[in-house]
Amino acid sequence: MTADPRLYVALDLTSVEAAQDMVDRIGDAVISYKVGLQLLPVGGAEFGQRLKAQGKNVFYDFKLHDIDATVEKATRSIATLGADLLTVHARPDVMRAAAAGRDDSGLKVLGVTVLTSLDQQALDDIGYYMTAEELVMRRVAQAIEAGIDGVVSSPLEAERIRAQVPNNFLVITPGVRMPGEDKGDQKRVATPGEALGFGASHIVVGRPITAASDPRVAALAILKNMQA
Ligand code: C5P
Repeated sequence: MTADPRLYVALDLTSVEAAQDMVDRIGDAVISYKVGLQLLPVGGAEFGQRLKAQGKNVFYDFKLHDIDATVEKATRSIATLGADLLTVHARPDVMRAAAAGRDDSGLKVLGVTVLTSLDQQALDDIGYYMTAEELVMRRVAQAIEAGIDGVVSSPLEAERIRAQVPNNFLVITPGVRMPGEDKGDQKRVATPGEALGFGASHIVVGRPITAASDPRVAALAILKNMQA
């Protein structure tokens, strides 16, 4: 089975050595990797450049959220690293600033709608008065208006999103688990095949692969499920 660029493996590891070891163990089963907040402060940005040089797709999960000028300049800086994807929180001003910073660099900006670890109780506790679904759809409309390239959402919202966005708009879903698998801290989950069936353009999978005794075998099982 050949690697499917739609599968991003979240390298949620705390050192470049551990991340490189994981990439080596997965081998040619995966071509797309997400570098997140655990790894970025300890060499993750340079590591992402190394992955790019090896022909891999790289997703920097910075989840930016700051004043306009800072988000714009941060996005401009990140664009110089040559990655494919960058996340910002899906607030209208933040997304507009990121769109300006991305410019015509080729970096695609994604808005994180509502974290897949948040359920309705958690949203109520924060003080959001909308349901998760209403909040996601409002932020999708704002993402399109801001001119960014896609959103990150739960697979359970992908179908509704897909029905309302242009074909080339990216819908990227973490919260992906194999049938019957432990959900961990994720609340709004679906299987890989279901997520794609709902209209996700890409899926993000972390622990089901990186915590498996054989990450390559786990990745191959996910690839198979994606085709089901
Ligand atoms: O290990 P697991 O498969 O749960 O990892 C999911 C990855 O997706 C993590 O890196 C997490 O930070 C990220 N993510 C998420 N929910 C979002 C955005 C990103 O779980 N809404």
